[in-house]
Amino acid sequence: MIDLKGKTAIVTGAAVGLGNAYAVALAKEGVNLAVCDVRPEIGKVGRDLENIGVQCEAREGDVSDPDFVRRFVDDTKSIFGRIDILVNNAGVWGASVADDDMEKSLTDYENIVGTNLKGEFLFGRAVIPIMIEQGTGGDIINVATDHMVTCGTPHFYCEGNSECPHKEDIHGIGNAGDGPRPTGGGDAMDLYDASKWALNGFLYGWAKALTDKNIRVNALCMGATDSYMLRSFHDFDPSEEEVSQWMRAEDNAQVMIGILREGRHGRNAQNHQFCMGRTVALEPPISQLYVLEEDVRIGGPK
Ligand SMILES: NC(=O)c1ccc[n+]([C@@H]2O[C@H](COP(=O)([O-])OP(=O)(O)OC[C@H]3O[C@@H](n4cnc5c(N)ncnc54)[C@H](O)[C@@H]3O)[C@@H](O)[C@H]2O)c1
Repeated sequence: MIDLKGKTAIVTGAAVGLGNAYAVALAKEGVNLAVCDVRPEIGKVGRDLENIGVQCEAREGDVSDPDFVRRFVDDTKSIFGRIDILVNNAGVWGASVADDDMEKSLTDYENIVGTNLKGEFLFGRAVIPIMIEQGTGGDIINVATDHMVTCGTPHFYCEGNSECPHKEDIHGIGNAGDGPRPTGGGDAMDLYDASKWALNGFLYGWAKALTDKNIRVNALCMGATDSYMLRSFHDFDPSEEEVSQWMRAEDNAQVMIGILREGRHGRNAQNHQFCMGRTVALEPPISQLYVLEEDVRIGGPK
């Protein structure tokens, strides 16, 4: 395990929700921060992070704006002298369905794909050459969703539930709902899911290109986690029972810290899944996933 103290991280979308929890967790590890958000309260968030005892540069800006990203990343490098960690977190959700009209769809596309996919792409393109030039490795964490790997409904809701459309009992132990379930978050999520699945291109493509530079790329695929976004799905009035079932952003952030503390020989090119109803913890490394050359293994300690 490595010490993160003194490193520099960029966290996007850090004003509220998961991004804020990631920034706070990094600050508590002694990591200096450059944070950004479209929300003006990012300035106050920056001061709160400094009060934890680290240096922090906070900027209001849109991750889908190439000029903003270029300036923010270059200024981060000038101010801190280095960039070790990029947490590509900023994301939005909006209902979009297959038969939406063209005008609404184009606005949704710019908003959802622009933030979730273009934003991560722009930050990657701006930060990666800096990390390579530094020559000391680095970490990129892309924030995705559990829709990459499940239908989004927690397993425990379906166990024994004859209403579950995927109720096949694959293990033959009388557990309805144990069967294979299609991925994706439902019919009003086409753009959201498309923007998140596309992140696999950056997860695997970047990891392959950057393994020999000691830059790791991992993705976080969480289910329902208490945040501004999740509360907005419940009209900001969720029941106590609903809230008690959600995961906590702070726990999620600790898993991210665990990945970062593994250092250059740790997990790489992995979608890390966190499911409601299960302990929020690092999954075992994926083993034997070879890229480029036989002696370059990604997915687990060498
Ligand atoms: N909360 C969940 O249950 C959940 C589940 C799966 C994935 N996620 C993902 O986690 C990430 C964080 O989500 P959250 O739940 O904390 O959401 P949130 O809405 O609570 O916080 C997102 C933050 O990103 C900022 N942001 C949005 N668009 C931006 C832009 N264009 N430029 C800069 N900042 C922008 C927002 O202002 C906000 O501060 C997102 O990528 C989301 O898709 C969340």
